[in-house]
Amino acid sequence: MKVVIVGTGYVGLVTGACLAEVGTEVVCVDVDAEKIARLQNGILPIYEPGLQEIVVRNQQGGRLSFTTRLATALPGAEVVFIAVGTPPGEDGSADLQYVLQVASEVGALMDHYLVIVTKSTVPVGTAVHVNRAVKESLYTRGMIVDYDVASNPEFLKEGAAVNDFLKPDRIVVGVNTLRARQKLEQLYRPFLLNGHPILFMDIASAEMTKYAANAMLATRISYMNDIANLCGLVGADINQVRKGIGSDPRIGKHFLYPGIGYGGSCFPKDVKALIQTGREYGYRLRILDAVEAVNEDQKQLLFQKILRHFDGNVSNKKFAVWGLSFKPNTDDMREAPSLVLIRSLLDAGAMVSAYDPVAMKEAVIYLGSNITFADDMYQAAEDAVAVLLVTEWNMFRIPDWPRLKGLMRSPLLFDGRNIYDDVELVKMGFTYYGIGNTA
Ligand code: UGA
Repeated sequence: MKVVIVGTGYVGLVTGACLAEVGTEVVCVDVDAEKIARLQNGILPIYEPGLQEIVVRNQQGGRLSFTTRLATALPGAEVVFIAVGTPPGEDGSADLQYVLQVASEVGALMDHYLVIVTKSTVPVGTAVHVNRAVKESLYTRGMIVDYDVASNPEFLKEGAAVNDFLKPDRIVVGVNTLRARQKLEQLYRPFLLNGHPILFMDIASAEMTKYAANAMLATRISYMNDIANLCGLVGADINQVRKGIGSDPRIGKHFLYPGIGYGGSCFPKDVKALIQTGREYGYRLRILDAVEAVNEDQKQLLFQKILRHFDGNVSNKKFAVWGLSFKPNTDDMREAPSLVLIRSLLDAGAMVSAYDPVAMKEAVIYLGSNITFADDMYQAAEDAVAVLLVTEWNMFRIPDWPRLKGLMRSPLLFDGRNIYDDVELVKMGFTYYGIGNTA
């Protein structure tokens, strides 16, 4: 089967590469000529473990190709995925202009039956607009060509995207015709061999499933951050509480980690977009309003703890930031909590030296030359009054503590992800602040 994927961002590129990996002929299309030229040479726009190898292998195998021209990609294709961005508008709603533009272009170019699938995260009801955009383009050309619209939201996580795609927990597909269902069933068959289910449903439900899943996960995080903050006040240890509640299979142990707030390109955007969809229908999603509010406060938490420790004066003091990306194994800086923390420190007159194994190039775009980027985690800590652990990359998990202590101006640690043992650190002479186990 041949498929076309429009948009070579996270979702589009991973989808294209992984479909090619199981033998599908895939053409990836993007308007960004420079990005396409680089991809043609095997250079990826993002850091994602394992993706580079798959892209190059399938390119060499002739199953995966990249172009800027939709017209040359479409002949012979049976499925077109729309995987372009849906950036948040001013009111938080998802901006659909790129999705609808692609739908119009497909309508303007197609000459045989196609299943047109939205893979970008799009609000409930978008398929109706996609359908209208295709129909209008066909009408303008005076053409009658058969097609179906479908919704197939993606659930992959950055940093684990390839594995998530190749071994999905479930594949959700919204369709309203049997032939579209059969086509997508055929496409996804290689991924179902391990017993993972493909869930067919109506299109609106598929669109809603994506937002409801992300909003539920975000809710767990804000809930745990709230409970962690209370633990700190009453003298309970959130790590023990987390294990205690996570052992109940109805709750489950995943996604219960408190921290300095969720970031990335999905949770913040999708929670806002779902709240906005509610508003459009006259319904206030009160839980999600709170989820957002807790998250905004949580991103300030480490800074507040720092200010309290230094009696409000951090001016001209050097802070070492370990980790910049919104989570480990990615160079993605979108909505990264590190940005809020660093900007607050700089505004208060502090100096910041940061180290991240992958995201520093990306971070320059956001932070410019306002901070120093160190060559390694120890260099970042030289003469620092405190180390701030922001992103829990594996390399930060077991530092050489005596070496670190010797380098720093004072042995002080703010652990934004609760990865260190506070008792052990205090024994070694460090002052330790975590999330929820210290007030
Ligand atoms: C998220 C979802 O997990 C994916 O299923 C979904 O497909 C994706 O959004 C999307 O809509 O495209 P992602 O944003 O890549 O994936 O990252 P997550 O691993 O979910 O982490 C999100 C944020 O939550 C990070 O800032 C992370 O540090 C934070 N987090 C996660 C916590 O603070 N505590 C936890 O226990 C787990």
